[in-house]
Order: sequence, then C-alpha cells, then structure tokens
Amino acid sequence: MSVFEPRQSSWNLDDVLPLDYHLSPGTIESIPEYIHSNFLTLLGRDVYSEGDSQPLFDYIMGRKREFTPDFVLMIEKWFEDEQKHYEALRRVYHLVGGVSYEKMDIAFAQRIHEIEPITEILKDEFTILVAFLFDEMGSTISYRRDVWEYYQHYGTQVRRIGKNLVMDEGIHFNNAVGVIEKNHSHRIKEIPSLLNRIAQLEYELGRYCKTFFLDHAQEQFRFPANFNQVLIEIILARFGLAQYPLGANNLWRWKPDGLSLVPTTPPTEGKRHYFFN
Ligand SMILES: [Fe+2]
Ligand SMILES: [Fe+2]
Repeated sequence: MSVFEPRQSSWNLDDVLPLDYHLSPGTIESIPEYIHSNFLTLLGRDVYSEGDSQPLFDYIMGRKREFTPDFVLMIEKWFEDEQKHYEALRRVYHLVGGVSYEKMDIAFAQRIHEIEPITEILKDEFTILVAFLFDEMGSTISYRRDVWEYYQHYGTQVRRIGKNLVMDEGIHFNNAVGVIEKNHSHRIKEIPSLLNRIAQLEYELGRYCKTFFLDHAQEQFRFPANFNQVLIEIILARFGLAQYPLGANNLWRWKPDGLSLVPTTPPTEGKRHYFFN
C-alpha cells in the first residue's frame, strides 16, 4: 500500500519576516494600548505553546515502532511546521514586544512539560490522531480570531504570519483526517466518544500541561461556553457523523457581553485588560 502524502505549505519564514525586519515608525504608537498589551499577553503564551511541539514530538518518536509509516511521516512534517511557528512567533514577540531571544530561550528551558496527565489520549496511533483533530481545529479557529483582533494591526508581514498559522493548522487537521481515513476507517465510529472524553479531560485538568495538546485550557475565557461542543460538531461533520454546526462562525467572532475586545487574561486575573464599549 502506498504511503499517505501529508500536505505541507511551503512558505519561508525568512521571506515573510526576516530577522532584520523592522516595523514602520509609529506602528506601535498608532495601536490602542489595550490591543497592544493584550497581544503581548497572548504572544507570551502562544510562542511557547508552539515550542511545546518538541517534547510531544520526542515522546511520539520514542514510541515510533508502534506507528504506521503514514503517521510517522505526518508527524515529521507536522513537527517541521510547528518549529517554524515557534520561530515565527519568537520573531513577532521580539519585534512587537522587544523581548530578547535569550530571554525566550531561558523561559522555554524553564518550562516543565508533563506527559503523564495526558497519557490517556496518547494510547495508540488512532487516539493520538483524534487528539490532533481536536487540537489543530481549535488552533485554526483560535488563530483566525487572533489575526482579526491583533496580527492585522502590525502591518502586512505580521499579518501574513498569522494567516500562515491559520493555514498550516488547517493543513495539520486535514492530514490527521487523511491518516485516519486511510489506516483507521474501522474506528471512525469511536471518534465522537473520544472527542467528548478529550474535552472532559481538558476540563478536569483545568490547566495546560505544556506538552502541546489541550493548550486551549489556558484561554477558555476567550471563547463562548459552547466552544468545545461546536468544535466537536465541526470535526464530526468532516467524517459525516454530524451536521456542520450553524454556530461555527460565531466561535471566532464571539465577544463577552459589554466588551469590545476579548481579553487575553481571565476576569479574576487582569481586570485592567478589560475594555468596555
Ligand atoms: Fe502551530
Ligand atoms: Fe498545528
């Protein structure tokens, strides 16, 4: 049987955002302070979540002999992309926040990556693929919101980074679908209960364990309460197991009542980031 060919975008980071790139003078001054400060908070999480692909990749590759060649190839391409995202967001964080690369290296080295709390979803190749479905579709929607709320204010190049992230996370979702359809079609009926269990685990953990999966636990307040439910329906629709949900577009357009911008910190932590209409 032929090997599944995962899709991969070909954008070059040095073309989109070279290391010596500078924002046009006055760019940051022209952006409302609440947008800028929220973007820095957001980047302070997203930079490292992309970097957390490293411990997950290392863990998966440690079990490589269990997996199909299609899955391993998909993971290798996925890892290349996520590391590109990590470097891309480091450049954005440096550019808009003035954070040094050395400081980011130290912050990343100090992270504690826990696999143990999420081992339940890493049982076998199929459950890992379903975890990818959940994570990559969530990231696609989340970055789409971010482009619209933040990236677009910082000029064409920074906006392109955001848009490329949206595109790549969508490709990662589709690649996981492809491997499931090719190698695990007899288990597609398990997807609904597995997705519900993943959402439940995210809720039970209530924190992000810094191993890439379930990173949306750290920003649930940015989305409507039915986010996971609609997300699951979008995924199930891809397999013909549900209707495409009417509320899908609302996931990234949603704002809490009375607010003009979705804050990047939970209400109890940072009221100063709240800006009312
Ligand atoms: Fe990514
Ligand atoms: Fe991804």
